[in-house]
Amino acid sequence: MILTEQSKMWSSKLSAFFLLFIIFPTFQTPAFAVENSYIVYLGSHAHGPEVSEADLDRVTDYHYEFLGTFVGSKERAKNAVIYSFNRYINGFVAILEEEEAAEIAKHPKVVSVFLNQARKLHTTHSWEFMLLDKQVRTGFYQNSLWNEARFGEDTIIGNLDTGVWPKLESFSDRGFGPVPSRWKGICQNDTNGGVPCNRKLIGARYFNKGYAANNGPINSSMESALDQEGHGTHTLSTAGGNFVPGANVLGVGNGTARGGSPRARVAAYKVCWEPVNGSQCFDADIMAAFEMAINDGVDVLSLSLGGPPSNYFNDGLSIGAFHAVKKGVVVVCSAGNDGPTAGTVTNVSPWMITVGASTMDREFQTFVELQNGLRLKGSSLSKALPEERFYSLINGAQAKAANASAEDAMLCLDGTLDPAKAKGKILACLRGKTARVDKGLQASLAGAVGMILCNDAASGNEIIADPHVLPASHINYKDGLAVFAYINSTKDPLGLITPPKAQIGTKPAPFMAAFSSQGPNLVTPEILKPDITAPGVDIIAGFTGATSPSNLPSDNRRVAFNTMSGTSMSCPHVSGIAGLLKTLHPDWSPAAIRSAIMTTARTRDNTVHPVLNGSFVKATPFSYGAGHIRPNRAMDPGLVYDLTVNDYLDFLCALGYNQTEVELFSEAPCKCRKSASLLHFNNPSIAVPKLSGTVRVTRRLKNVGSPGTYSARVRKPAGISIRVKPKTLKFKKVGEEKRFKLTLKLEKPGVAKGYVFGGLIWSDGKHYVRSPIVVAAAAAY
Ligand SMILES: *[C@@H]1O[C@H](CO)[C@@H](O)[C@H](O)[C@H]1NC(C)=O
Ligand SMILES: *[C@@H]1O[C@H](CO)[C@@H](O)[C@H](O)[C@H]1NC(C)=O
Ligand SMILES: *[C@@H]1O[C@H](CO)[C@@H](O)[C@H](O)[C@H]1NC(C)=O
Ligand SMILES: *[C@@H]1O[C@H](CO)[C@@H](O)[C@H](O)[C@H]1NC(C)=O
Ligand SMILES: *[C@@H]1O[C@H](CO)[C@@H](O)[C@H](O)[C@H]1NC(C)=O
Ligand SMILES: *[C@@H]1O[C@H](CO)[C@@H](O)[C@H](O)[C@H]1NC(C)=O
Ligand SMILES: *[C@@H]1O[C@H](CO)[C@@H](O)[C@H](O)[C@H]1NC(C)=O
Ligand SMILES: *[C@@H]1O[C@H](CO)[C@@H](O)[C@H](O)[C@H]1NC(C)=O
Repeated sequence: MILTEQSKMWSSKLSAFFLLFIIFPTFQTPAFAVENSYIVYLGSHAHGPEVSEADLDRVTDYHYEFLGTFVGSKERAKNAVIYSFNRYINGFVAILEEEEAAEIAKHPKVVSVFLNQARKLHTTHSWEFMLLDKQVRTGFYQNSLWNEARFGEDTIIGNLDTGVWPKLESFSDRGFGPVPSRWKGICQNDTNGGVPCNRKLIGARYFNKGYAANNGPINSSMESALDQEGHGTHTLSTAGGNFVPGANVLGVGNGTARGGSPRARVAAYKVCWEPVNGSQCFDADIMAAFEMAINDGVDVLSLSLGGPPSNYFNDGLSIGAFHAVKKGVVVVCSAGNDGPTAGTVTNVSPWMITVGASTMDREFQTFVELQNGLRLKGSSLSKALPEERFYSLINGAQAKAANASAEDAMLCLDGTLDPAKAKGKILACLRGKTARVDKGLQASLAGAVGMILCNDAASGNEIIADPHVLPASHINYKDGLAVFAYINSTKDPLGLITPPKAQIGTKPAPFMAAFSSQGPNLVTPEILKPDITAPGVDIIAGFTGATSPSNLPSDNRRVAFNTMSGTSMSCPHVSGIAGLLKTLHPDWSPAAIRSAIMTTARTRDNTVHPVLNGSFVKATPFSYGAGHIRPNRAMDPGLVYDLTVNDYLDFLCALGYNQTEVELFSEAPCKCRKSASLLHFNNPSIAVPKLSGTVRVTRRLKNVGSPGTYSARVRKPAGISIRVKPKTLKFKKVGEEKRFKLTLKLEKPGVAKGYVFGGLIWSDGKHYVRSPIVVAAAAAY
């Protein structure tokens, strides 16, 4: 799924829809056999460094042979296979009966067999907020990461999403030299509406067979990487869009738009397709795109999409990311928009950078003024009221249609409002259940002149500037209560909404977006997720010309830039920064880049107080991971917690895969060590979910700065004692690695009920290498 916040309310409907799995027969079977597309994952290939076409053909032929033994013949197998992954991922996608899939899953060479399911999308001042444009002189950095990393020059960032709108200025190749010679990608421009390349946008491919296997035959409109939805254009231009002066959304927020790596090259891999309600991105297409992108030569892959948290090898995104990281590609993923509920974080594989979303210090302010003198600050991107005067103000329930319930009308749902009651008035609607812009549409269809969108308790202080189709203001929970109370308190309530104005310098910022999915990580609680937070609320970036900024079919507006909110938007910020780090440190592994980003993050806001959540309560590492990204610091972290392929294999051993199974993932024989433990996985954060008595955690640090002596300091979680050994680490040269041990102990039984939080800092007086620590006592205590 695509992870914009708007798409959230569709997810429940969609999952029901997906479970029905449309039957799409490709070969003769008994009339009642139910067929579905399944992914059969076999691990890694044993290719040498030089892979010939003949080698690849041999693998595919092996896939047919292998499947043939289950479906009766190689011929039938050939007809059943829709993708054969023969370069990096070893596996195939085939249309199978459930019984066949179950048989295949038992074979010892098979890691996993799972249904090809739909993931969904997780729906630019943000760079200044992170000081990327600043020459930071506080301390030791002479220059900004942007300057040092030459704006991400010649790094190649790929995006698996809804495609790209190539005409956008963000993708113009003004000032770009020839395409790097290592690049093997193409733009599929053969069909009508195909996407042409230039020296900036150097790749555009589409993958639709996994979608087609579930949704029936496709037509020519689906043979193009063109973005019909806007999400992919927005995320790709956030990660790597070129400089575009004078960019604004409907006249608001005017400034220079650019991505995190404005001089990077970008490539779009369209894996998400637009059915009626929000895009679907199928595992099979995601895996096919990973195969291609790794081979094309991307350095960074950005994925603002995901499904529910699931096991690493029952998830196309996690498998694709595993093989990409093995080849040195940095993979950045959105954490999901199912917050603030605990345990909702998705894309939790330890080889991914998982990104939560928070606000920045810009607001698109609109004020709600009530005739009683109250003036409430809200947010929106919409036009002004027809006249600057007070209008009659009613709530949704008061505009209720005869056949609707007051509860539904309060939420301004489709078909619940009576135009005879709403016409010419400002309507106060409650947030929830449907898309925010849809409430605006319903108000508008009912003839209202404006809408006040009031938060429910769950969304607290999180207000979002949407491109509503009518004058609107989105206000927080407390202010919403004040509006409803005023409406109740008087016979003829009156109100107005001021037009939106961009305001910079808002305090406090960041705070965590309520929608941002939260830990603990339900798949492997020993791996803290998300890893980091970045701006994901009211992000301005490029948009498609194929649809309206509200995505509502009835909205005829077209914009070059749009604001969107979601972990979908924070993810490409980190991808852009990863691109800069890749330009600056081409030899750093994906894990080193992840570590540099995490250990240099901050957990305080611009008022130097702890970062808060959407209800002004202190946020925890379960919402922000290591904290808010600080790109200028990330370029010089001093030390990193690095990881090699062997560390990932150890991780799999520790998860309980046996040696035979783990060897499926490695090109060479490898050994599961008895001592393999999730607690020793060299993660830049430390999570101990079931502490009973005393537990030891080991880590190793690698010097990527200058030689120096680092000392440890612990911020201890309540009720837990922590000892570090050794307390100092002396690094004599770059690249040197040193190990240390943390001993965590419950101070006394009964304390530390639920999770408690602390931190570890290694410092040489110049660098501060910070790790969050999260601990919960075992239930026995
Ligand atoms: C169109 O596609 C062809 C074949 O892949 C490629 O050679 C050509 O450069 C592409 N043209 C543009 C403008 O992208
Ligand atoms: C392809 O299918 C879509 C959705 O069913 C439809 O809206 C579109 O008009 C079709 N395009 C062509 C070229 O047939
Ligand atoms: C945006 O700013 C640019 C340069 O400052 C200016 O030329 C342009 O007119 C502005 N556009 C709007 C819509 O304010
Ligand atoms: C799309 O959403 C509309 C309105 O919420 C709903 O009536 C319709 O059934 C949905 N369609 C699908 C295919 O889910
Ligand atoms: C109420 O009736 C109207 C007009 O027949 C219809 O469009 C609407 O969907 C109905 N609403 C509900 C909640 O049933
Ligand atoms: C306003 O009145 C309605 C109905 O009388 C009631 O349910 C609601 O709680 C009141 N709201 C406030 C904020 O007083
Ligand atoms: C903020 O944190 C508190 C305490 O953990 C929690 O109860 C609340 O739901 C959170 N609010 C939001 C909007 O995240
Ligand atoms: C490894 O695990 C698989 C699946 O559980 C099992 O079939 C196999 O016998 C195991 N191999 C060893 C060496 O334990």
